[in-house]
This record gives sequence, C-alpha cells and structure tokens, in this order.
Amino acid sequence: MVTITYITSDGREFTVNAEIGDTVMRAAQAHGVPGIEAECGGGLTCATCRVGIPPEWQGRLSPASADEQTMLEYCEDPAPATRLSCQIEIDQSLDGLRVTIPETQH
Ligand code: FES
Repeated sequence: MVTITYITSDGREFTVNAEIGDTVMRAAQAHGVPGIEAECGGGLTCATCRVGIPPEWQGRLSPASADEQTMLEYCEDPAPATRLSCQIEIDQSLDGLRVTIPETQH
C-alpha cells in the first residue's frame, strides 16, 4: 500500500491508500475521488483522467509514453506537468504522491 493525495481545484484533499500495481486513476475511482471521470476506462482515448504533477514529483515518475504524449498534446498543459492518471502505475516509489485535478474535470 502507498498513500496518494488528490487535490481538487477548490482545495479539497483526498488521501487514499492505494494498491501497488494499480493505477493512479483506478485508485481514485475506487475511493470515490471526484474529478477523475476516466470515460474510456484506461484505454488512453479520453483524457478525462488528467492530473497535475507538482514539480517535486515530475522527475520521479516514469516518462509518458509516445501515445500518452500524443493525447496530452490536446490538453492545456503537456507532460510532465500534466499526466493521464490511467497511465501512472503505482509502485512503492510513489508513496506520498500528491496530484492535482484540473478544474475542467469537476
Ligand atoms: S481513462 Fe481515458 S485516457 Fe485515461
């Protein structure tokens, strides 16, 4: 288990215990975190699972794949500041990760 905190645009924080091997998107949905719609269920086709990555975490995540980069090109902020949470697999190194949820997903 690792702890991940999701921060909404109005400042609410949701801290959840997430399973290793899950994704940041699925952990949010499993715990009822608002704003992670994930309409495609992790299929890399909707970009409604976007999260903002604080500067201190940007170099600690695996880089976005070419397909994720392509999806993010249509969003306001490219990687590494914005990522698709369905593409971030949770491992122990992500314990304490904090992400923000864009206002457009509320
Ligand atoms: S859930 Fe659709 S792109 Fe992440």
